[in-house]
Amino acid sequence: MNRKELIEKYLEFFKSKNHKIIPNVSLIPQNDPTVLFITAGMQPLVPFLMGTSHPQGKRLVGLQKCVRTGDIEEVGDTYHHTLFEMLGNWSLGDYFKNEAIDYSFEFLTKILNIPTERLAFSVFQGDEDAPKDEEAASKWKSLGISEKRIAFLGKKDNWWGPAGTTGPCGPDTEIFYWKPNNTPAPEKFNPEDDNWVEIWNNVLMGNVKTTEEKIIPAKQKNIDTGMGVERTIAILNGLEDNYLADMWKPIIEKIEELSTQSYENNEKSMRVIADHIKAAVFIINDGITPNPAEQGYVLRRIIRRAVRFGKDLGISNFTKEVAEPVFEIYKDYNFNKEFILEELEKEEKKFTNTLAAGLKKFNKLTKNTRELSGKDAFLLYQSFGFPIEMIIEECKNREIKFQKKDFQEEEKKHQELSQTASAGKFKSGLGDNSEKTTKLHTATHMLLAALKKVLGEEVNQKGSNITPERLRFDFNFDRKLTPEEKTEIEKLVNEEIKKGHSITREEMSPKEAKEKGATGVFDDKYEGTVSVYTIGNFSKEICTGPHVENTSSMGTFKIKKEESSSAGTRRIKAILE
Ligand code: SER
Repeated sequence: MNRKELIEKYLEFFKSKNHKIIPNVSLIPQNDPTVLFITAGMQPLVPFLMGTSHPQGKRLVGLQKCVRTGDIEEVGDTYHHTLFEMLGNWSLGDYFKNEAIDYSFEFLTKILNIPTERLAFSVFQGDEDAPKDEEAASKWKSLGISEKRIAFLGKKDNWWGPAGTTGPCGPDTEIFYWKPNNTPAPEKFNPEDDNWVEIWNNVLMGNVKTTEEKIIPAKQKNIDTGMGVERTIAILNGLEDNYLADMWKPIIEKIEELSTQSYENNEKSMRVIADHIKAAVFIINDGITPNPAEQGYVLRRIIRRAVRFGKDLGISNFTKEVAEPVFEIYKDYNFNKEFILEELEKEEKKFTNTLAAGLKKFNKLTKNTRELSGKDAFLLYQSFGFPIEMIIEECKNREIKFQKKDFQEEEKKHQELSQTASAGKFKSGLGDNSEKTTKLHTATHMLLAALKKVLGEEVNQKGSNITPERLRFDFNFDRKLTPEEKTEIEKLVNEEIKKGHSITREEMSPKEAKEKGATGVFDDKYEGTVSVYTIGNFSKEICTGPHVENTSSMGTFKIKKEESSSAGTRRIKAILE
C-alpha cells in the first residue's frame, strides 16, 4: 500500500461512519501563539474541541501536515521526521471511548488487514487528574484482546497534550504493532521493547489545561485520534526503515544520484538531507522565509543543517534539486515551486558564503597555533555563523585542540553580559540609550505586534534601526500596505500606548519563552536565560532592552513612510511626537 491509498482508505472509512472531511491547513498556526507550527491534527480544531460549534458537524476526519521541531537533532535515524502527515478522526462532544476504540480496531484489522496477533494496547493507569482506565481496557478485551496484551501506563506514556502550553488534553489509549517479520509477537506486551511501535493514538480528550497550569475536566468530551502516515506505510510494507517508503525513496534516490554514492553507506546524511529539504519545501510553501526569528529561524536551521550534511557527501548547490522529487511525491499539494526554489537557493548560497568567511577566519585564528580557545570559537559562531558542530569537525580534521566546554563557558559569559546590558548598564545594539531611542525601541515592539494583528501572524522582523529621530523597521510582507492598513496599525499602537501599560521584564529559558508565545530568536540548545519584555496583552518579545517603564510616556505614534526594502520585505519609518 502506498501513501495515497492509505489516505483514501482512511477518509473513505470514516466517511462511511458519518464523518465529514476537513481541510489540511497551513503549518503556521492561525490563532495559537503557544506554538510555532501545527504539530498535530487536532491543533486547528482547538476552538471546536473547547465547545464552539464546527460548521461541518461533530464528526470530522482529515489529513494534516505537521512539523515537530523538538527532535531535529534526532533526525537521521529510521523514523524521526521533521515534517510528517497525520490522519485523524475527531468527535466533538459526540461519540466517546467505545466507538473510538471500535473504529480504530475495525480500520486496522478489517480495512488494513493487520492481524490482531501483531497488536498490543496501552491504557492510562490513573492519577489525580483522571482515573485508571478500566473501561478502555475492558473494551479492548471485549474485542478479543488478551489481558496480557494490555499495559496500564502513567502520564508519561498515556496522556496527550495540550499541544502548546494550554488547552484540550486527556488520557489516551494507544495501539502498538509488532514490527519484526521473522519473529512472532510475544504473548505478553512489553512497552519497553522497541519492536512494538505505536501505530495509533486514541486520545480520550476529557480535560483542559488552564493558564494556571491546572488540569481540569473539560465541559465537552472529545475524541482526538492520530495515525502517522509515514510509519503506517513502513509497517504495512514490512520496512524497518521509513526512508524506504514511497514518500521518501525518490528523494533518497535523487541524493544518491547527485552524490554518486549509495544510501547504504551514507544513511544518516541522506536521511537528514531528505528530511530537512522536504520540511523546508512545506514550510516555505506556507509563506515562511529564512530569517532570524521564530518559524523563519527553524527553517534557516534545517536548510543549513542539510547543507552541512551535503558537505559530508561532497555535494553543493543541491537543495533545489532535492526539492524536485518532493513536488512529485506530494502532487496533491499546491506548491509555489518558483518561490520555494528561489528561497532554498538563496539560503544555501548565503550559508555557503558564511561558511567560506568563517573558514577564512578559522584559518587565521589557527595559523600559528594548534589550539582554538573558547573565545575564538565563540567569535566564529557568533559573528560568522559557523556552526559549533563544524568547528569541532574542523578542529578534529586538523588535529587542533579544542574543548567544547570552553566554548560553552564563553557563551555563558556572553549571555551574562547581554543580561547586564538589558539592565541598562551597557548599550544594547541601539545607537544610544537616550530617552528618545528607548521610547522608539518600545514603539518598535508595539509596531511588530500591530503588524501581526493587522497583516497576519506570519509577519516577522527582518531588521531594525533606531536613531533619536525615528525608527526604521523591516518585515516580511509581499505588497504595499493600503492606507486603511496603515491607519489601523497606527490606531492600534496608539490605543495601546494610551492604556499606560507598565512594561515587565522576565528572565526565562528560551524554551519557556517560546512556550509563552514570545516573539524572537529561539535557540533550544542554549541553556542560559533570555529576557522577555511584555507590554500588556499586546506584545511579548525576547530582547535585551532597554525599554520605557510605562507606555504613557511615549507620545503619539505616526508612520511616516512605508516602502519596499527588498523582494518580499517592506520597510516602515515611524516617529513618536
Ligand atoms: N493528538 C494526538 C497525537 O498527536 C492524536 O492525534 O498523537
